[in-house]
Amino acid sequence: MRYSPRLATVKRSYIREILKATQDPAIISFAGGLPSPDHFPSQAFAEAAHAVLTENGAAVLQYSITEGYPPLREYIARRYADTLGLDVPMEQILITTGSQQGLDLMAKVFLDPGDGVLMERPGYLGAIQAFSLFGAAFDTVDLGPTGVDLAQLEAGLAKKPKLFYAVPNFQNPSGCTYDEPTRREVARLLAGSDTVLVEDNPYGELRFSGTPLPPLRAFAQGACTVLLGSFSKIASPGMRVGWLVADPDLMHKLVTAKQASDLHTSIFTQRVLHRFLTDNDLDAHIAVIRKAYGERCQCMLQAIRASFPEEVRYTEPEGGMFLWVQLPEGLSSERLFQKAIARKVAFVPGHPFYVDGTANSLRLNFSNSTPERIEEGIHRLAECLKELLATR
Ligand SMILES: Cc1ncc(COP(=O)(O)O)c(C=O)c1O
Repeated sequence: MRYSPRLATVKRSYIREILKATQDPAIISFAGGLPSPDHFPSQAFAEAAHAVLTENGAAVLQYSITEGYPPLREYIARRYADTLGLDVPMEQILITTGSQQGLDLMAKVFLDPGDGVLMERPGYLGAIQAFSLFGAAFDTVDLGPTGVDLAQLEAGLAKKPKLFYAVPNFQNPSGCTYDEPTRREVARLLAGSDTVLVEDNPYGELRFSGTPLPPLRAFAQGACTVLLGSFSKIASPGMRVGWLVADPDLMHKLVTAKQASDLHTSIFTQRVLHRFLTDNDLDAHIAVIRKAYGERCQCMLQAIRASFPEEVRYTEPEGGMFLWVQLPEGLSSERLFQKAIARKVAFVPGHPFYVDGTANSLRLNFSNSTPERIEEGIHRLAECLKELLATR
């Protein structure tokens, strides 16, 4: 078959491959990136679906406009004003089929083979995939506990990449968050460049400790920025509803690209979601999720402190769903994975999150396991780590 060479450079999602290996219910899995299903508001969605279908079935089942359901866009604009004090006109909001589609559309609108994309190191795998498909030439900036390395960012921007992709809140995979001085400095550096900032914020509302911070966009006057958002982590990932915020010129191009992709995001799901949001208290729902994830994260950190060998380093997230573990030099997280899976515990080895590969880190998800399973899983992982250290 004469496939496009475009696919040749894109790897299948390593995580999806690992998930296949963790289907056995006996396996304690810290591998997936799944929100907790215990907190899906199924009944409220059932009522919302019933209401929109019975009250306005014809409109809900008809084709709709590419930009998205206007009341939903208004809801998002109002929420930006209420929660972050951000003035975002609804005309600058495009509803997308998950924020993953926002990444795909940005790639379609900006990238030709060989175009530069600056990524965090480690970086979000789905973004690496989306940008790879359009032939991105990646460069990276190290990410640490206070955000990206600013000297590396300045050097990276000097090479004039088309896009800089950043996840400043509780990043996937590391759990790291940019502090305020770093946000200001990133914004200052971007203001002097023509690189477009793609700011991805699916986890921003899942803060369980510390002080909320405004997005980079709030500091980045004069820079070209696109802000991505999602209902996946605060309502339901299966609905596949996200959005992006872009200035009018860019919005026009993104709408054209979206028309070619899917005409519009399902109007049925948009209207059910909107009904859910207007008939229920989203803040109260998010507060429940935050509390549960905060407890799960603390439980994982306590178990790690109590049982992991001292040389092992880890992040201590203030929100989100992941933490990141750095093994001592020379220890392979792939070998740890083999041992762990034999003891029925799983995680994601770190290398797919690097565009240039590295072998001694791993990602642990804490949102999708109960505290009891977290304690047991970390205990098993600690045993595997000790064995691995002993044979080094
Ligand atoms: C950083 C980041 N961006 C985007 C996505 C995709 O989310 P959505 O379900 O909104 O497409 C994810 C999903 O895990 C993510 O971690």
